[in-house]
Amino acid sequence: MKPKQEIINPHNIVLIGFMGSGKSTIGRALHKISSFSFLDSDAIIESQQMLSIGDIFRNFGEKHFRELEIGFCQWIKSHVTHSVISTGGGLPLVFDTREIGVVFFLDLDFHVILNRLSLEERNKRPLLSNIQKAKELYISRKTSYKQQAHFILNGALPTHLITQEMLHAMANVKI
Ligand code: S3P
Repeated sequence: MKPKQEIINPHNIVLIGFMGSGKSTIGRALHKISSFSFLDSDAIIESQQMLSIGDIFRNFGEKHFRELEIGFCQWIKSHVTHSVISTGGGLPLVFDTREIGVVFFLDLDFHVILNRLSLEERNKRPLLSNIQKAKELYISRKTSYKQQAHFILNGALPTHLITQEMLHAMANVKI
């Protein structure tokens, strides 16, 4: 697999894609079978703020959450290497993820994403509370995901096949 474009930062792996496309699951699985550390933007923001994503949105608004995501990326850019980073679905809209690593977009149909998420998982995500609006968001974000991706992966494949493809792709990236 050849990257679709020049790689700026070969030192990390970045997973991007819509909410519920499996970024954290794949990131964790890749970490287990490789020497890459694992970082999850949502989990780090939640622990730094000592608040859930839902509470950050409710108490401070989405704009504030996006600023926290930008801060997270700036920290990654200057301090983190050899890590697989799973990102919140909106993060590529506020920061160019190519600056923090080799970008893999997990591509999945909207209806598949919805079917995979439990009610509890949906409730954790403020921007999934209105399905029609979420679908519009999905459509509007796809271009940005594709623009930033060095590699586009079929997110519907089993986890072990996705991680295999990622390692294969990374083997050809010069660090
Ligand atoms: C968001 C995605 C969520 C989380 C927040 C906003 C988005 O992360 O960052 O609820 O704007 O798409 P996941 O993509 O891990 O669900």
